[in-house]
Amino acid sequence: SLKVGIVGWRGMVGSVLMQRLKEEGDFNNIEPIFFTTSQKGQPAPDVGQGAATLEDASSIEALAACDVVLTCQGGDYTAEVYQPLRDSGWNGYWIDAASSLRMAEDSVIVLDPVNRKMIDQALESGVKTFVGGNCTVSLMLLGLHGLFAEDLVEWASPMTYQAASGAGARNMRELISQMGAIHNTSAALLNDPASAILELDKKVADFIRSEDYPCDQFGVPLAGSLIPWIDKPMASGQSKEEWKAQVEANKILGSSNQPVPIDGLCVRIGAMRSHSQAITLKLKKDVSVESLGEIISGANDWVRYVPNDRELSMRELTPAAVTGTMNVPVGRVRKLAMGPEYISAFTVGDQLLWGAAEPLRRMLAILKN
Ligand code: HSE
Repeated sequence: SLKVGIVGWRGMVGSVLMQRLKEEGDFNNIEPIFFTTSQKGQPAPDVGQGAATLEDASSIEALAACDVVLTCQGGDYTAEVYQPLRDSGWNGYWIDAASSLRMAEDSVIVLDPVNRKMIDQALESGVKTFVGGNCTVSLMLLGLHGLFAEDLVEWASPMTYQAASGAGARNMRELISQMGAIHNTSAALLNDPASAILELDKKVADFIRSEDYPCDQFGVPLAGSLIPWIDKPMASGQSKEEWKAQVEANKILGSSNQPVPIDGLCVRIGAMRSHSQAITLKLKKDVSVESLGEIISGANDWVRYVPNDRELSMRELTPAAVTGTMNVPVGRVRKLAMGPEYISAFTVGDQLLWGAAEPLRRMLAILKN
């Protein structure tokens, strides 16, 4: 059975991955070897295969004993270990959640419901490096899979509403701290039904701008506000998160030579772990909304088409409804005033499941078979 080294299993994405591996019985028929950056020799998690101890994640020798290395440890770890491991002659499979190797010539970005054929061809031709995509990219492609598969998309402009989890576990905690602090500071006014709304508003606004508002992680307020910038600036004026949309999506779709233009603004909002995106699309031809619904909903097992209805949209097309599930609802599909080829769509997905852990889990499952 495959010897699978697992690195970064204790972090947020790693924990979600562990949960999914257990749920799907993926530890059967593999020999998991758990790595640690700081606790070598301590007991490894028991996943039903008896006691074992943690191996040193910086030991090239220990990593080289694995057939597969599956890492959620982050980009710095990949940068430190990947090349020395390859240089040592190791020819195993490297499956990675971090972005460092995504755009490398000899890597494939894995999103198998969309690009299984590319993955199979890559395996056949000896590719050994498989990387999960950026969360917003993977979630957009799963949702709009049908439109891309039918080659209907001339261009797309995703405007995102990204959850705190994308910034990290500490940021999720900070979001809730911010919410609680806002409530604390205004509780007396809130509990008094006779208090003036503008007084309550001012109290909250003053607090959000004050030194007492907890924002060490984000640097600026998120709860009660939003942050219209995610990741580093690029020379193009895009944020790095925005830059990823076109390059990664076209790499996944196999269209990097003639890329579909994909560009929009990425915004952090106060949701916990589900990313949303409002997408404007120019289609290559006029297709009825009814047909679009069929094309979108038939593309894979996880997309859920939500008809453009107020009640359904409010209930089903939200982070609150989607969080913790594998569903990727797509709704608000309608023709825009710009012309019959211009449509809108809104989609939501769990950033830690399909946005991060699930494509990696499924890549491991592909290697097992
Ligand atoms: N970069 C994403 C975000 C998460 O900040 O929301 C990781 O893909």
